[in-house]
Order: sequence, then C-alpha cells, then structure tokens
Amino acid sequence: MSIPPRHLDAPHPDTIFDAGWLSLRRPADTAARAEPLNRLAHDWLSARAGRPLRLIDLGSGSGANPHYLAPRLPGPQHWQLVDHDPALLALAQGTCSAVCDRDGRPVGIDTRLRTLHALAEDDFAGSDLVSASALIDLVDEGWLVRFADACAYAGCAVLVVLSVDGHWVIDDGEVADPDDAFVRTAFNAHQQRNKGASDGAGRMSGPALGARAAPRLAALLEAQGFVVTLAYSPWVIHMVDIGQRALAAALLDGWRAAAAEQCPHAAARIEAWHARRQLALAHDSTRIEVGHFDLYAEPGVRS
Ligand SMILES: C[S@@+](CC[C@H](N)C(=O)[O-])C[C@H]1O[C@@H](n2cnc3c(N)ncnc32)[C@H](O)[C@@H]1O
Repeated sequence: MSIPPRHLDAPHPDTIFDAGWLSLRRPADTAARAEPLNRLAHDWLSARAGRPLRLIDLGSGSGANPHYLAPRLPGPQHWQLVDHDPALLALAQGTCSAVCDRDGRPVGIDTRLRTLHALAEDDFAGSDLVSASALIDLVDEGWLVRFADACAYAGCAVLVVLSVDGHWVIDDGEVADPDDAFVRTAFNAHQQRNKGASDGAGRMSGPALGARAAPRLAALLEAQGFVVTLAYSPWVIHMVDIGQRALAAALLDGWRAAAAEQCPHAAARIEAWHARRQLALAHDSTRIEVGHFDLYAEPGVRS
C-alpha cells in the first residue's frame, strides 16, 4: 500500500538517482557486502521470531537491499520501504513482489513515499531491524544523530551497508596516475556538499558526511549502548567482465563530473586525467577498488 506523500519538497539534485545506475552497481554491491553481518542480523531476528518481524529499508531506491536481505533472514517478514522518488519506489515494489524469506514464505512489502529529512524519534517504534544501503554518506551530522536516537528509542537492530569510505584505486599495473589523488580529493569534497539533509523542521542544514558517515554512525550508536560491528565491503571491479567494465566507465565519468563541478578552474586538468584513465580501463587486467563500510549494531550486550 502506498501512503500519501509526507513533507515532499523538491529533493536536492544530488539525492536523485537514476534507475540505470542503481541496476549497474547492483552486482558489485551484492559481491561486496560483508556476509558475516547478515549472520548477526539473522541471529537477532531469530531470537524475536514467533511473530511477524517488522523491517524498514530507508532510501530503498529500486529495492536492492530488501531483495538481497529477505531470503537470508528468518520470517515472517514485513518490510516498509521508504524513499522520496516515486518511480524508484514503484520499481522496488516490483523487484520485491516475489521475494520470500529464508523459509520460502512470501514477504510483505509496504512502500512509503516520503523524505527522510523530517525523521522523528518514534519513526522506528515497533520495528525489529532498520536497514539502508548506499544512503548515509548523503546525510548530515544532525540527521545521523536523530537516526541513532530513533534506533535507540525503538530498541531495534541496525544494518547500514555500502557507505563509501573515500578511498579508491585504479590498478593497471603501473604507478598511480599523478592526478588520481587530486580527482579523489575533489570528488570527496563534492560528496560532502550540503544535500538537503535537514534539521527536524525539514530545513537544509549541514554538509553531507560523505566518507565520514559510517565511523560516525558507529560512534553514535556505541554512545547509545549498541554493540557495533564495522566491516570493510569494497567494490572490486575487473575490466575483464563486460558488466563491470560498464560500471567502471560510469564511475570514471561520475568522478570527472563531480571533480569538475568542485574545481571548475581545473576542468582541463580533470579532462586530461579522465582521458588517461579511460585508456587504463581498456586493459582486461585493470581493476578498480572502491572502499565501503558495512555496519551492524544491536542494543545491549550480544550473547
Ligand atoms: C544511492 S541510492 C541507493 C538505493 C538503494 N538503497 C540501493 O542500494 O540500490 C540512494 C537512495 O536514497 C534515496 N534518498 C536520498 N535522499 C533521500 C531523502 N532525503 N529522502 C528519501 N529518500 C532519499 C534516493 O532516492 C535513492 O533511492
């Protein structure tokens, strides 16, 4: 069931994602995820089984996260998928319509078209697990504090995966390009621009946390008494694979665009870097590694 929009101002352009991009990155996301965290979430939910489990996915996009998680977790499961993009939410409903839990029971899906800006303390009340993938690098400090508060209020587990850590390397067997570091720094600065994450009243406030988001969330949840596990979950992209090569090309274009927007005075330098790195991607042996963190947390002491 779709709930009417709640507080939907025009989203910031940097928080709108193309369905094609989400589908391109999905195999790399699946391969990167830290499997041991699924087991921790599984055990937490198993201990609460015997009644329908309530799970929330924030920033669902086209539904990749619940589609991945549901068959790895016990049930019966009821998911609430939240996003501010109606087209992606409609895709998510389709993606997840035939998804079953670990024991083959169909999973309940309910979509909520709303912005995450006005996150309230009791938004997760009654839920067993709150999850998100590729989301929290977009938010600011104030939002992350309110997110940790809401998780503590609900006493739920938290599984927040695929948050960028700010590192990437293009390994073509040669020494790194002299401008890799320049472009990476410009890109990371671009990621930390204000993306319209907001204070409780829905107003824009601070800069996005970017690469600092996952360690910061770990600290905030630990301060709330959660036991937190942080795991490294890098994309490892091999040019020999046609699909991965397309992802690499899209990444390179994205880094170029963001770096040029961040440093317009260096547009020619960035363009020259892009041309050199495109040549590197032409070799089957080239690989790209893009760093991410996965985070799992649950209240109190784990037995
Ligand atoms: C990088 S995409 C990740 C999508 C999906 N979780 C995945 O892993 O494929 C980020 C998602 O968060 C949503 N999003 C970003 N900012 C949001 C906000 N303020 N309120 C609601 N949704 C938001 C976007 O629409 C997009 O679907």
